[in-house]
Amino acid sequence: MNSLNLDSRRAAAKVGLESDVISIEGGRPLRGTIDVPGAKNLATKAMVAALLGRTPSVLRNVPAISDVRVVSELLRLHGVQITEGEKPGDLVLDPSNVERAHMADIDAHAGSSRIPILFCGPLLHRLGQAFIPDLGGCRIGDRPIDFHLAALRSFGAVVDKLPSGIRIEAPHGLHGANIELPYPSVGATEQVLLTSVLVDGQTELKNAAIEPEIMDLIAILQKMGAIITVEPNRVIFIEGVEELRGYSHTAIFDRNDAASWAAAALATKGDVYLRGARQPELMTFLNVFRKVGGAFDIDEDGIRFYHPGGALQPVTIETDVHPGFMTDWQQPLVVALTQALGTSVIHETVYENRFGFTDALNKMGADIVVHKEGLAGYPRRVARRAFEQAAVITGPTPLHGADIEVPDLRGGFSHLIAALTAEGTSTVSNVGIIARGYADFIGKLRQLGAAFTFVD
Ligand code: EPU
Repeated sequence: MNSLNLDSRRAAAKVGLESDVISIEGGRPLRGTIDVPGAKNLATKAMVAALLGRTPSVLRNVPAISDVRVVSELLRLHGVQITEGEKPGDLVLDPSNVERAHMADIDAHAGSSRIPILFCGPLLHRLGQAFIPDLGGCRIGDRPIDFHLAALRSFGAVVDKLPSGIRIEAPHGLHGANIELPYPSVGATEQVLLTSVLVDGQTELKNAAIEPEIMDLIAILQKMGAIITVEPNRVIFIEGVEELRGYSHTAIFDRNDAASWAAAALATKGDVYLRGARQPELMTFLNVFRKVGGAFDIDEDGIRFYHPGGALQPVTIETDVHPGFMTDWQQPLVVALTQALGTSVIHETVYENRFGFTDALNKMGADIVVHKEGLAGYPRRVARRAFEQAAVITGPTPLHGADIEVPDLRGGFSHLIAALTAEGTSTVSNVGIIARGYADFIGKLRQLGAAFTFVD
């Protein structure tokens, strides 16, 4: 068994999936109503933020995904008591007795998530030292941590690379810094926020990421007593304070989960109401959804996404940082584009290897050509990055069932959509990877009328 299969099995087991393989009978439209969970990319970071408080925090709307389990286990290893709150999805995190964890116990989580790198600042503040295991997360490119380490060093931290993981210390304490990120990285922005709030002095962060999940994290930190000002042009200014308290907060909805199910509704010619989806954070997605030929109705409680009939239209998309079209949205949408009348182009500018999932789609009958060096001459809006790639999708191509293996989280959801769209039966293995980020996706498939069984 390779390490990806093993990761997938572990993730499947953490959320109680019957098996890591499902067999899907495609060709049925998804129809019905499902709830959008709290955002994976906020909840996991909000849990780390609880380490900074002197009193317990309450986080509501926490998605039941294996990434949350991994972060819970790491927090528990450091003495944080985590209990379920009044309602499903509520977590109470009590950091009163934060303590050093054994390196071997932390190392057991090597490769399981990218969130551990965000423990650096909070653990330095609480314990003066942190050991961070080798990171995991989706294999969608190199995913270096150089911006994180440079930022931590500018606060005065000393980083030692170990054969496995890193050790980080602050022998002379941590102080405010002037930091300019080479690229508006989501993780590095969070690293700076989670560290700067308790340092001695002021921090100016230039070229920060301003994703909605980051704004929600800033809201949480403000509730804890932090002083953070978001200025125009991606500048964030943080005034360090001496102490923070616990927070009470409801996590923002998961816009990636919402976009993924919306894309599934379109590709399967279905009609899905997403309770809890909100327009402001999905505006860019909604524009593209409509240009492709999908329809939506927005009300107070959610958004209905559906295929209104007629041919789907091709589009050209450049993935980008917020408020652009998210890289996480392109993979699920590609399946609908295989059904559009003409040629679509996706320029992936955020990660250098996020088209691996298209091999399986081609096996199922799609016509997708990946240009590994990008398409430099193509008219485009964003500045070209050194490693970007492009995918050219020519449709419409009927899809047929196949045996496919989930490669990463969003690519895996795309495989699910392809299997649901295809004529005939597909066997999808490694579905545990999908459980890392999509809460109750099996229950939701049932609710929406998908025909599938677990395979032993
Ligand atoms: N980068 C560096 N050095 C660094 C940090 C980032 O070169 O030190 C590069 C990355 O390699 C990448 C780009 O900067 O090319 C953007 O990375 P970023 O740091 O913004 O991404 P991240 O924090 O690792 C989060 C989400 C991703 C999402 C991206 C972009 C989490 C846990 N992950 O990743 O979500 O695609 O932001 O919005 O929040 C997912 O949910 O499936 C997922 C991959």
